[in-house]
Amino acid sequence: MARETWGTRIGFILAAVGSAIGLGNIWRFPFQVSQEGGAAFMVMYLAFIILIGFPAMLAEFVVGRKTELNTVGAIRDFAGGYWQYLGGLFVFIGFVILSYYSVIGGWVLRYILGSVTGGYAATESAAAYFGMVATGTDTLIAHAVFMLLVIGIVALGIQQGIELGVKVMVPAILAIFGILAVYAFTLPGAGEAYAYYLSPDIGYIMQNWQSLVPAAAGQGFFTLSLGMGVMITYASYLGDDKNLGIDGISIVVLNTSVSILTGLVVFPILFSAGVDPATSGPGAIFVSIAEAVLDLPFGRVVGLLFFLTVAIAALSSAISLIEVVVSYAIDEFGMDRVKATVIAGVAIFILGVPVTMNTVFINLYDILAAQILLVLGGVLLMVLVSWLHAGEAIEELEQGIGDLGSIGSLWIWMVRVPVILVLLVSLYLGVTGYIDFLTGAFAEYLGTL
Ligand code: TRP
Repeated sequence: MARETWGTRIGFILAAVGSAIGLGNIWRFPFQVSQEGGAAFMVMYLAFIILIGFPAMLAEFVVGRKTELNTVGAIRDFAGGYWQYLGGLFVFIGFVILSYYSVIGGWVLRYILGSVTGGYAATESAAAYFGMVATGTDTLIAHAVFMLLVIGIVALGIQQGIELGVKVMVPAILAIFGILAVYAFTLPGAGEAYAYYLSPDIGYIMQNWQSLVPAAAGQGFFTLSLGMGVMITYASYLGDDKNLGIDGISIVVLNTSVSILTGLVVFPILFSAGVDPATSGPGAIFVSIAEAVLDLPFGRVVGLLFFLTVAIAALSSAISLIEVVVSYAIDEFGMDRVKATVIAGVAIFILGVPVTMNTVFINLYDILAAQILLVLGGVLLMVLVSWLHAGEAIEELEQGIGDLGSIGSLWIWMVRVPVILVLLVSLYLGVTGYIDFLTGAFAEYLGTL
């Protein structure tokens, strides 16, 4: 059976954009901004997206398109030897990320319901409503529903499932958020919010760069879906005649626009309702948006549109995470797509069950996956591409673009030194942070005995 491909070039770009835009932009980004000093974080984050994210994305693209294989096969084909286990690591990371991502996706589905029925207005407080949504049997059911949606789309295949899905979902995300940003502009707190969000304090950056650097790098990797073979897998469904540079720029620009747009929606809403944007924790965006919209004109409609967009964005990212696992099962074991998707989906669902019982598992999974595994996967792939196979990488990038001349070496040297260095620093900070988190959680547990 012939391997599947994208039907159109725009189909590939939208799928990659759909993967990139997700809970990372809407759930994670606003609170990274508020915890890391507002506009100061923005400056750092934008620099990282351009200087680190874009070159790293190109590296994943060339490996995928050159080999036309799933991430395990691709890396084995590209490098051979022990490197093949790196592909296995990627598949494993896909399992871990999607297992908790789907639980949060389930929360979003419940908030859509809550906006329709007025549920979060009826509960005594927005925080109490979140407490109800966050854990328990209903949370488990919502997690199952979200996984079923993911399985349904991916089982239909590349063109009939993923490509068709993202052609509807990505324009919907842009349109609804555009409308919400215009609405947010009319709110009384808009001016104050824009100042907070858009005018950086250089002094702050100088003083806090040690925490800004890893935060911005981590967010850059997570939001662009780098570090676990999504972009390898998606590029493996491409023909040779495409310009990967232009594709990469389009994806980075669209994804960054949605993050910026999210800030233009979220911060005016929060400032206008007098909600502190620095409230943190996995429930932050849920509690604060629900609380804020209750006091605003057309609040319930705004809440409904907001959570609907978050759900669509989460779904179009989740399908990319499972596709890494599914394409591996199809290519390596000759499994058929429907069977591979169902098996992967059920396994991921089970891994997510603990998360539905106690929100501490979100941090446990998220810090491990995003701050350690993704960065580790990213740094290893960058070493492989830039130090060991630079010639082939440049040659592959030139397919569909033409002779790159010194731009090719500029790209390789960007990856060889600055990208790898920043990732190593982030990895170190990620590991020490995780150890602190684990000892803290353990001490807390002992305290309850
Ligand atoms: N980028 C997505 C988001 O911002 C999440 C995501 C999808 C992801 N695929 C990924 C993150 C692969 C890391 C690696 O929500």
